[in-house]
Amino acid sequence: MKHSGDDSQSVRDTLGRPVRDLRISVMDTCNYRCPYCMPADKFDENYQFLRPHERLSFDEIVMVAEAFAAHGVNKLRLTGGEPLLRKNLPELVRRLASIEGIEDIALTTNGLLLEKQLPALIEAGLQRVTISLDSLDAEQYRRLSGNRGELAVVLGAVEQAVSSSLKAVKINCVVQRGVNEDQIIPLLQRFRHTPVVVRFIEYMDVGNKNDWQPGQVLSAADILDRIQRHWPVQALKPNYRGEVAARYAYTDGAGEIGFITSISQPFCGDCSRARLSADGRVYTCLFSEHGHDVRPLLRADIPVEERRTQLQHIIADIWRQRSDRYSEKRDALRKQRDKKIEMYVIGG
Ligand code: GTP
Ligand code: 5AD
Ligand code: SF4
Ligand code: SF4
Repeated sequence: MKHSGDDSQSVRDTLGRPVRDLRISVMDTCNYRCPYCMPADKFDENYQFLRPHERLSFDEIVMVAEAFAAHGVNKLRLTGGEPLLRKNLPELVRRLASIEGIEDIALTTNGLLLEKQLPALIEAGLQRVTISLDSLDAEQYRRLSGNRGELAVVLGAVEQAVSSSLKAVKINCVVQRGVNEDQIIPLLQRFRHTPVVVRFIEYMDVGNKNDWQPGQVLSAADILDRIQRHWPVQALKPNYRGEVAARYAYTDGAGEIGFITSISQPFCGDCSRARLSADGRVYTCLFSEHGHDVRPLLRADIPVEERRTQLQHIIADIWRQRSDRYSEKRDALRKQRDKKIEMYVIGG
């Protein structure tokens, strides 16, 4: 098998962008019902989620990750829905960590189930976690989770993560104007002087179910403005080319914060992210309408080596044909695209 390091690494899309980051959704459902992602009235007890056999097995996920690694992917992120609902996740982490070329494995979670599972995940090779946290007000937090979340439990998990051997702990806060904008300063206040990096995400038009309106967005510039009135901050250089978040540091040395500016300052130019859904579709953009279904090949009745080879070719072809830059063309594309992939399917 080929691995990153040889010239197969140089697969590029039509805009010259390599593939570096594979985000794997291991679960299409969630224990929360955040109104902007899985509104409870639409995702009720009658909603038909994937059946277990429709989800990729660990063998199948590993095979896809290996194929991407052969083309230059060195970072993996496990997402959902809620990834911690997937049984035996540490076993998957262990197998992914041993793939040649994979240097970094991270997890994006709402944190409710993290505390119990974290030690085994770290032991298996997990290096970083990002925990979603939109409010520090217990009642509001609960409301924003569709009455499922427990703020105290999630804050406990953040603390546990900070005192663990993880390389990094981040918090994602999706800011919605008029909803949780009052939480910006409390969140920073709470995590200043800790290693936790709080990142504010501009509310995005992901999927079709959240009835997104531009007026609901609070831009990173506005957020930054509010922060500067409390604490001076200065821009930092990206950690790597194509980093999603714009980084800032408090000038008084109290730590780092970040902004994810898909609306006000799109970052498609360096986008090297591919996404795999729990049922085996490869998406080349967070706002794609269609994924490339690789599950039939993964389950084809042909020798495993042949499956591997074909998968590598298919993935290279998918990437070579890629021309996505939705965020840069949002104004033109938004009204045309009414069947975008949902956030809970692709995990951010
Ligand atoms: P690091 O690996 O720590 O740099 O994290 P990351 O920023 O790549 O990953 P994370 O999942 O924490 O990303 C934060 C959020 O940014 C996601 O949940 C999405 O909401 C958003 N995001 C990530 N990648 C993209 C992207 O390619 N396009 C857009 N529009 N938004 C993205
Ligand atoms: N806009 C921005 N971020 C979103 N997330 C979910 N839906 C949206 C949206 N419409 C965030 C989650 C989580 C991450 C995976 O994506 O809150 O932090
Ligand atoms: Fe909320 Fe994330 Fe679950 Fe969506 S996947 S409902 S954003 S916790
Ligand atoms: Fe990448 Fe699509 Fe996001 Fe642009 S909008 S950064 S192409 S995932």
